[in-house]
Amino acid sequence: MCQNEDRRTTERGSPKLSASGAQPTNTHILAHRFGYLRPTSLPEAIAALEEHPDAAILAGGTNLLVDMKMERTAPASPSEPTELPGPLPSGQPAVLVDISRLPGLSEIDSAERRTTIGALTPIRNLAVSEPLWREHSCLAEAAAAFGSTQVAMMGTLGGNVANGSPASDTVPALVVLGATATIVGSSGERTVLIADLLEGPGRIALERGELIRSVVLPAPQGSVGSAFLKLSRVRADLAKVSVAARLVRDGETIVGARIALGSVGPTVIRAKRASSMLAGKPFSKDLILNAARQAASEIQPIDDVRSTADYRRKAAVALVFDAVSLAWNRTKEEVRGQRGSPVSSTLLGTRPMQAESTDLVPIELVVNGKAVSLSVSPNELLLNVLRDRLELTGSKYGCGIGECGACTVWMNGTPVLGCLVLAVSADGADIRTIEGEAVDGRLSDLQSAFIAENAFQCGYCTPGMLMMTKRLLEEIPQPTEDEIRDYLKGNHCRCTGYAAIVRAVHAAVQKGAT
Ligand SMILES: Cc1cc2nc3c(=O)[nH]c(=O)nc-3n(C[C@H](O)[C@H](O)[C@H](O)COP(=O)(O)OP(=O)(O)OC[C@H]3O[C@@H](n4cnc5c(N)ncnc54)[C@H](O)[C@@H]3O)c2cc1C
Ligand code: FES
Ligand code: FES
Repeated sequence: MCQNEDRRTTERGSPKLSASGAQPTNTHILAHRFGYLRPTSLPEAIAALEEHPDAAILAGGTNLLVDMKMERTAPASPSEPTELPGPLPSGQPAVLVDISRLPGLSEIDSAERRTTIGALTPIRNLAVSEPLWREHSCLAEAAAAFGSTQVAMMGTLGGNVANGSPASDTVPALVVLGATATIVGSSGERTVLIADLLEGPGRIALERGELIRSVVLPAPQGSVGSAFLKLSRVRADLAKVSVAARLVRDGETIVGARIALGSVGPTVIRAKRASSMLAGKPFSKDLILNAARQAASEIQPIDDVRSTADYRRKAAVALVFDAVSLAWNRTKEEVRGQRGSPVSSTLLGTRPMQAESTDLVPIELVVNGKAVSLSVSPNELLLNVLRDRLELTGSKYGCGIGECGACTVWMNGTPVLGCLVLAVSADGADIRTIEGEAVDGRLSDLQSAFIAENAFQCGYCTPGMLMMTKRLLEEIPQPTEDEIRDYLKGNHCRCTGYAAIVRAVHAAVQKGAT
């Protein structure tokens, strides 16, 4: 289940071990102090990065804030070397440049010759994009395979690429699609193939002060099919092995092939020799199997907490075989996408902000319909403001690093993890917590269904589970069991075994709950 299992707590609420295993860290708070800048235009963001070479870019925060909490952060410049997995060099950023409100960077725009995806596009929006499923299905499929729905709603495509993880789900897909990144900085704009950006674990070829503005996918030419497959311990986890494949077909012949694998080397790996084995040959199972074996010989897997190198190599053969076969079938079949709706901007408003690390910053929130004004430090988290300052203790602290979903609240209509949202970033937002669900003391139909179906025991996970289920029913009013389980994969329950929760969701649907 855990993205950060190698660093997780042994006891709820207790200090977690840091990446090195030596220092206990406290994921309840962001202990480190930093200045905070919120530019409202791209030129302002570039100027801020130039002025603060020790700054880190904050987009969705699902990597950056976790790394800061775990004291694994973050090179001042993305091109400075870091090691993942394992301890990162010291050096927390002195300033965060919050780009999450920059306008015009959250759209998927399909024009005739290409699809341009803004760097701030939430991963979730890729997973439910019909044009992407139709034209670039491996990317939509990779987004749908993301480990947690909330994280996919908060995390961005630019962050997934810039984080430089070999386990990134979107990067193998972007590599086989021949995607480029449009990178901007004080010296102008450049375009680089995503494949050429990958330098090593946690390292991509961005210069100091540069940021990714968008990702561009060339339009498919001819009969093209692509697929992404991910093998992980459970649904809500990073990959042990992932594979993206893209084929171009002419009659019964493969005229072009690209295969890339994740989590099996220091970066996402292109299986170039396996790809060339396929090109120009008639499709046959023997050919695909030989290419899959070849691909497995091109990877450099390691033993780690998720798998052994040996297992990864064996699994890669099967996964490449399946992904290539699926891509071949998709050269002639329509692909059915994932149901659901995209996330609209969670951070409306264009108020710029600038704060020193020691400043108290005034912010405005609307919490469960009531306007609230308060002053926060740049390093205060939304969850702690809700629980400790506004005494709304329904939302729970479970892991503090995005893995359990107990802290799920809504921000401008979208579920977010309160433990990974800076209170300053939430400035101007409409926040809904579990306390806002009962009206005049009467529980909602969804809450009543959870009680009627015994969908909780200790109840610790229940507020987060309910806030997430509420959104599920808005997106998919009649979900199947698989859709319920998939949607709630980022909400952990240690008591019920989930069956009663699924029953409660079905019961709520029968009652017409929303
Ligand atoms: C519980 C959990 C589960 C996860 N599961 C998955 C999973 O299944 N698959 C997967 O691939 N990832 C997963 N992740 C990792 C993470 O959610 C993704 O990598 C996400 O896309 C990061 O985007 P972000 O906007 O949150 O990035 P941030 O955390 O804001 O930033 C990440 C890094 O990129 C830099 N950055 C961000 N945007 C830009 C930009 N536009 N230009 C230049 N630099 C930039 C930041 O400075 C930082 O170094 C998971 C994380 C958590 C906590
Ligand atoms: S406390 Fe676990 S995801 Fe936030
Ligand atoms: S964790 Fe106890 S009811 Fe879910």
